[in-house]
Amino acid sequence: MIKSRNVCKEYKTKHYDIIANNNISIDIKNGEIVWVSGVSGAGKSTLLHILASIDVPTSGHVYWGDKEISALSDKERSHFRLNNIGLILQSLELLKTQTVFDNIALPLRFMKYDKQKIDTKVNTILEELNIINLKNKKPEQLSGGQKQRIAIARALVTEAPYILGDEISANLDGETSKFIYNYVKTSIKKRNGIGFFISHDTSIKDYVDTTYTMKDGILEALV
Ligand SMILES: Nc1ncnc2c1ncn2[C@@H]1O[C@H](COP(=O)(O)OP(=O)(O)OP(=O)(O)O)[C@@H](O)[C@H]1O
Ligand SMILES: [Mg+2]
Repeated sequence: MIKSRNVCKEYKTKHYDIIANNNISIDIKNGEIVWVSGVSGAGKSTLLHILASIDVPTSGHVYWGDKEISALSDKERSHFRLNNIGLILQSLELLKTQTVFDNIALPLRFMKYDKQKIDTKVNTILEELNIINLKNKKPEQLSGGQKQRIAIARALVTEAPYILGDEISANLDGETSKFIYNYVKTSIKKRNGIGFFISHDTSIKDYVDTTYTMKDGILEALV
């Protein structure tokens, strides 16, 4: 279960103050996949960062199960993230100097898996996502859609229960997007996990359970 209560996020800059998230309370149950849409600047990525605990709210609370994640220290939060979250950010965050294999292996190395297990897990996901041929390439040698799939593979390889993705199909063609939605949905459902996806692509609707839209920092459920 991921839960937020009265989450507000305010950005104060030299030029403007903005309430990017305005009093957001959401409950996401295990087994549930959520889709959030909304215009640019509505506050979607801000909310994803807060639910994923890479950012903290100005006020309000975030819970993963019984644990109030928004009350933990930075170090505790990163420990929890490693074990519980697969994150695909809008900026992808691939390491430029590392190969595709090493980018995907990164979280498994942090988790201290042995070399053989890492090899098996990374090769399996590369095969399943049809990108095994990219294994030894560096991110700069890849197309946008290829990089996108590496970021997705890295988020899924640890089999974390919570998968949060920001525009996961941003650089993919229609057919590949559907393949990826189906793959991601199957992995989440298999482990009774949670999916939280921000997307402008309406074809994601066939792969989600609950739909929200965001406007001016306010989250609204669509029925
Ligand atoms: N670090 C920051 N400092 C100041 N303002 C910020 C910061 N991050 C986001 N904002 C502002 O907060 C608002 C919401 O931004 P956010 O990135 O959450 O929107 P979004 O819905 O994800 O948009 P997009 O669809 O373009 O990705 C915007 O007005 C943005 O300018
Ligand atoms: Mg965004």
